[in-house]
Amino acid sequence: MLDGRRVLLIIAGGIAAYKSLELIRRLRDRGARVRCVMTRAAHQFVTPLAVASLSEDKVYSDLFSLTDESEMGHIRLSREADLIVVAPATADLIARMAAGLADDLAATALLASDKPVMIAPAMNAQMWAHPATEANLATLARRGILRVGPGAGLLACGEVGLGRMAEPAEILAAIEAFFVADHRLAGRRALVTSGPTREPIDPVRYLSNYSSGKQGHAIAAALAALGAETVLVSGPTQERTPPGVCLVAVESAREMLAACEAALPVDVAVMAAAVADWRVEGAAAQKLKKNGEGAPVLRLVENPDILATIARRRNDRPALVVGFAAETENIIANARAKRAKKGCDWVLANDVSPGTGTFGGDRNTIHLVDADGVEDWPVMTKTEVARRLADRIAARLPSRIH
Ligand code: CTP
Repeated sequence: MLDGRRVLLIIAGGIAAYKSLELIRRLRDRGARVRCVMTRAAHQFVTPLAVASLSEDKVYSDLFSLTDESEMGHIRLSREADLIVVAPATADLIARMAAGLADDLAATALLASDKPVMIAPAMNAQMWAHPATEANLATLARRGILRVGPGAGLLACGEVGLGRMAEPAEILAAIEAFFVADHRLAGRRALVTSGPTREPIDPVRYLSNYSSGKQGHAIAAALAALGAETVLVSGPTQERTPPGVCLVAVESAREMLAACEAALPVDVAVMAAAVADWRVEGAAAQKLKKNGEGAPVLRLVENPDILATIARRRNDRPALVVGFAAETENIIANARAKRAKKGCDWVLANDVSPGTGTFGGDRNTIHLVDADGVEDWPVMTKTEVARRLADRIAARLPSRIH
């Protein structure tokens, strides 16, 4: 049920606007309070009278209407909601949101809002596939804006493809899921590193390690699931980018460090990547050839320590910096020493001895080392480790959205 939940529904001008009428009815049936904003173009598809009758409230459309402003300014309109739903979200409104425009009441309310936003895109398949729309959606996803649909099928324009607005039942399910979900990290920014790094020897060869990226990707997923705006800086892996996470793909340790620094400021940084400790000095610009003079000798130089660099930032050090310690012996003692040496707050120590199956496997045994001591976690899957870590982080960094 959605008893008393306040939903601000923004209806933009697309043929799918007729489905929004049913969405209003379903939301009302579930006990939600629905207030509606219509764009000018939306008036061409459904009448404000129908929207007002179903929502049993006044419909808002004009940014500069004196009556509207005296009764309910755009700031209050956006603040007095628990969730803003844009359905249908047209290509035009999505573009205006991405650009931060405030050229009508709908766009202004969205820009002035500090509330979570969910969009249900609806447009022609070509518009959906256009690189401009793709870039706008990526921008919105990076800002933590939730999305439901679109689906594929016969579109109103007669073409077949992606772009059909999600059905009202599907949008309702997403809204209900939103309200039962845990958003303790909403308004927080998180940085996670994952996977191995690749250090070039020449244009076709590299040094690397067996890291799968499973643990780092699972952590990014768990932080994003709690509402954190999450940047995942990862070396090459087979893992899927978790929903709602912004991936920055890198190869070498130096690229990973630059990407992490570019992601600052963040509230929490979790360094789960297996960064190559060394790189080849003076990697060859051309492929190394067998030239009869014997095997080449590679000279290695140390890579920057990303965890230590981020933990030692002066003005923009994250409030919480978490590192991993991959150890094969004296696990706790080594983890304590690593915590002190790198200046991070927490170290998640894990046993990566051959036979434990940790490296590249699905399970992990963690000991959380902080200033107060050690907490031993039972053997868990990497997903469970990620959820427990996200839970600990949420307890340390309370939510900013109220
Ligand atoms: N790390 C890092 N940059 C590096 C090396 C490690 O950010 N150049 C981070 C890892 O992501 C991890 C932590 O430091 O969070 C510890 O990694 P680990 O491999 O256990 O330690 P090392 O620093 O490499 O030390 P050693 O190999 O000597 O145990």
